[in-house]
Amino acid sequence: MRKIMLLNAKGGCGKSTIATNLASYYAMLGKSVVLADFDRQGSSTEWLEARPQDRPAIRGLVAWRDPVRVARSTDYVIMDVPAGAHGPVLTALVRRAHTLIVPVLPSPTDIRAAAHFIHELLLVGKIVRDESRLAVIANRVHENSAIQNSMEHVLNSMSISYSTLNTQIYHNLERFLSRLKIPFVATLRESNNYLVADARGLGIFDLNSSQAHRDIEQWQPMLKWLESKRSIPDPVD
Ligand SMILES: Nc1ncnc2c1ncn2[C@@H]1O[C@H](COP(=O)(O)OP(=O)(O)OP(=O)(O)O)[C@@H](O)[C@H]1O
Ligand SMILES: [Mg+2]
Repeated sequence: MRKIMLLNAKGGCGKSTIATNLASYYAMLGKSVVLADFDRQGSSTEWLEARPQDRPAIRGLVAWRDPVRVARSTDYVIMDVPAGAHGPVLTALVRRAHTLIVPVLPSPTDIRAAAHFIHELLLVGKIVRDESRLAVIANRVHENSAIQNSMEHVLNSMSISYSTLNTQIYHNLERFLSRLKIPFVATLRESNNYLVADARGLGIFDLNSSQAHRDIEQWQPMLKWLESKRSIPDPVD
């Protein structure tokens, strides 16, 4: 059984979105999936309520209210955690998972907040590397506009470096993570597909593949990391 938790002290970075998309991805593969909602706000629970009956089933757990009991036959438990968890609450939460994924919005403020959060997780002893594995993903990244792209092209042809805001922000995030030896496993763009899928209780993997092709492609490095031993602590129950 794999227990994967989405968390970040900062609100609105995509914890619930990544949790529901991950749950629907594993369900699509025929896995037995539990989506545990630790957030009273109930975004994941509401998403599951909207999920059409003809889609692969996902079991919901209102984990902030009910005891977290899952059948032994469960393949994946995806845990959606509220923003703002700190101290003993955070410690108790992270102990429940094997794998922790922190989505970060690519703004300087969000990156600074994520750095503090990861610092708290790692260095204040909230997580022990042998007990859980941690990765970061960038979410809601605006792709370069056509104008930026063409400007970049022109400047490059004149051998003048044109560093876009996003490129610079990534650079800082990557530098910070590599210092802490934390993998940066995906960059997900800002995409309407997440909103379209969310409203219907679906994930991007359930959408028409030509419509969501680019988004699905962006998930591959994270899915690969989740399949690899690097994302699984030793030993796992
Ligand atoms: N890659 C994306 N592209 C477009 N919209 C996105 C993307 N990721 C998330 N969103 C939207 O951003 C909003 C916040 O996302 P979400 O609710 O997943 O964040 P959260 O971290 O769970 O927030 P909270 O801290 O309130 O629980 C939602 O409206 C969601 O649909
Ligand atoms: Mg949420």
